[in-house]
Amino acid sequence: MFTQCEAVLEEKRILSEKDAFLVLKVKEKKEVKPCQFCMLTATFKKSFDPFLKRPFGILFQKDDKIGLFIRNFGRGSSIIVKDIKESFKFDITYPLGNPFYPKKDKILLVAGGIGIAGIFWAGVVYKNLGKKVKLLFGGRTEKDLEIRYFLEKYNLDTTYYTEDGSFGKKGLVSQDLENYLDYTWLVCGPKAMMKAIFELGKKLNKKDIFFSLDTYMACGIGVCLGCTIETKNGYKRCCKEGPVFSIEELMESSF
Ligand SMILES: Cc1cc2nc3c(=O)[nH]c(=O)nc-3n(C[C@H](O)[C@H](O)[C@H](O)COP(=O)(O)OP(=O)(O)OC[C@H]3O[C@@H](n4cnc5c(N)ncnc54)[C@H](O)[C@@H]3O)c2cc1C
Ligand code: FES
Repeated sequence: MFTQCEAVLEEKRILSEKDAFLVLKVKEKKEVKPCQFCMLTATFKKSFDPFLKRPFGILFQKDDKIGLFIRNFGRGSSIIVKDIKESFKFDITYPLGNPFYPKKDKILLVAGGIGIAGIFWAGVVYKNLGKKVKLLFGGRTEKDLEIRYFLEKYNLDTTYYTEDGSFGKKGLVSQDLENYLDYTWLVCGPKAMMKAIFELGKKLNKKDIFFSLDTYMACGIGVCLGCTIETKNGYKRCCKEGPVFSIEELMESSF
């Protein structure tokens, strides 16, 4: 069951002109399971604009602290990335979403940009459960991968990719996927990347591919239907039945 409580901003690091890493101290500790997320207020100075909370992946959990990786994308995320300072009190609802536990013992995480926040913690939990975990993490340039400094201590076996070759292997994070056919793939990133992997999976007839989807969310708790996507098994709420869906139930239009 989720909780709604206060979360104090303990640490904030600006990673680039658009990305920030945050550590929040939550008043009520709840166990964060693989692929769960939070809804966070994105207002300050007692304003109600924007009125709705915004969904963000939970990068990690340690005691009563959680880590977030937020990209300045619009009104709310820009306030969080640019304006909010340490000791600010957020209102948070967490943990939300259906936890995802793959059946196989070999898991490949494929993360593009901020997509890392949606699946990184899952990788840590799977590793602690004794599964073999491999992470492929890609961005356009080295700046997009700055968050790695806060994640390396978890020792996930990682290969980095940048499109311009400024860090790690040059090219797309999806370019070597066929080397990992005996792994279950868990994917999170920009729509174009997820669609490309969806098409590759269909071509390969690989059935154990799972996508953590990013949709608009208003309530995050299954009430408003604002996050509904069309699947082969009917309409599903991304915040409640998801955010993780299998390639077998998704259609190209689901992304
Ligand atoms: C489960 C989940 C986990 C997420 N995790 C993270 C995370 O860890 N880090 C992170 O930076 N972002 C994450 N996001 C995306 C984040 O929630 C949105 O970027 C944010 O809500 C945008 O709000 P805003 O007020 O900044 O933008 P707005 O001002 O509301 O919108 C700006 C523009 O973006 C479009 N937009 C808004 N939300 C979305 C969306 N979800 N998908 C596509 N387009 C959108 C709007 O139409 C508009 O054009 C996640 C989303 C989901 C559903
Ligand atoms: S965001 Fe309201 S039902 Fe999913």
